[in-house]
Amino acid sequence: MNVTLITGASDGIGKAIAHRFALLKHNLVLVARNEQKLAAICNELTSNYKIEARYIIADLCKAEAPQAVYDECEKRHLEVDVLINNAGKGSSGEFCQNDLAAELEIIQLNDVSLVALTHLFLQNMRRNKKGFIINVASMIAFIPSPYMAVYAGSKHFVKAFTYSIAEECKPYGVKVMLFSPGLTSSNFMNTKENNNNWGKALTSGVNTQTPEQVAEELMLAFSKNKSRHVSGSKNRIFAKLASFLPPSFIASTFAKQKRKQVGIKEA
Ligand SMILES: NC(=O)c1ccc[n+]([C@@H]2O[C@H](COP(=O)([O-])OP(=O)(O)OC[C@H]3O[C@@H](n4cnc5c(N)ncnc54)[C@H](OP(=O)(O)O)[C@@H]3O)[C@@H](O)[C@H]2O)c1
Repeated sequence: MNVTLITGASDGIGKAIAHRFALLKHNLVLVARNEQKLAAICNELTSNYKIEARYIIADLCKAEAPQAVYDECEKRHLEVDVLINNAGKGSSGEFCQNDLAAELEIIQLNDVSLVALTHLFLQNMRRNKKGFIINVASMIAFIPSPYMAVYAGSKHFVKAFTYSIAEECKPYGVKVMLFSPGLTSSNFMNTKENNNNWGKALTSGVNTQTPEQVAEELMLAFSKNKSRHVSGSKNRIFAKLASFLPPSFIASTFAKQKRKQVGIKEA
């Protein structure tokens, strides 16, 4: 059975994407850690949209998890023809003060697992000359972001990796899209790593989209076979403007603004 696999589908943007794909009658495999949430979403999707929705519990911060997810799909004879690498996490604060293990987990989840899942599922797509991979980055992939340094670096990686493999995949009929949301009203900023003064400085006064709005834009971009899309019209303008400015200027402006919001005086 052909399926769309979505990581980080138990909440936020991933959950909203799952609803959208179910509406399009895609059979789904949802991946995350929280079994209770995954089971409830699968039940809802199955009964509302008359599709097959299954889940795989996986902690994608663990190095062995992507292979285990792939093996489970093989065991259940599920052919992943759309892969959406959406699971992600971040942190706010001074890099040198943040917990190192938590910072490295960001790279493991946002980059290492994304690369491993892409590598694993791409093999069949390439053989079948058909498939679609969507990697969820962030607006932050277009700008340096002091006080969110590792998260910013992880999403810059996703951008460069995705643009590069998109070209490599063209001869095989596999499409690859970089999808970049801006600030979205999910639980993302409520985690213990983000819920602090630095995180609040990032979010204060900034427009947010709902996960449903973000998912709607992703769906539209998918239906148009786009290779890149920034969610939200203001975010698109900002990403365009940022491409004309020196990264050092953006970094220094943001850093000063955040220090002011947090109440740190300039030396
Ligand atoms: N929210 C924003 O402002 C924003 C802005 C730009 C980009 N993004 C990106 O959008 C994507 C989705 O974010 P969101 O806002 O929907 O965040 P969210 O509401 O916090 O949801 C994150 C999802 O990822 C899953 N997840 C977290 N850690 C995991 C792990 N170790 N293994 C497997 N799954 C894990 C969570 O499920 P479990 O807890 O059940 O594992 C949840 O389903 C991320 O890549 C994020 O970087 C978000």
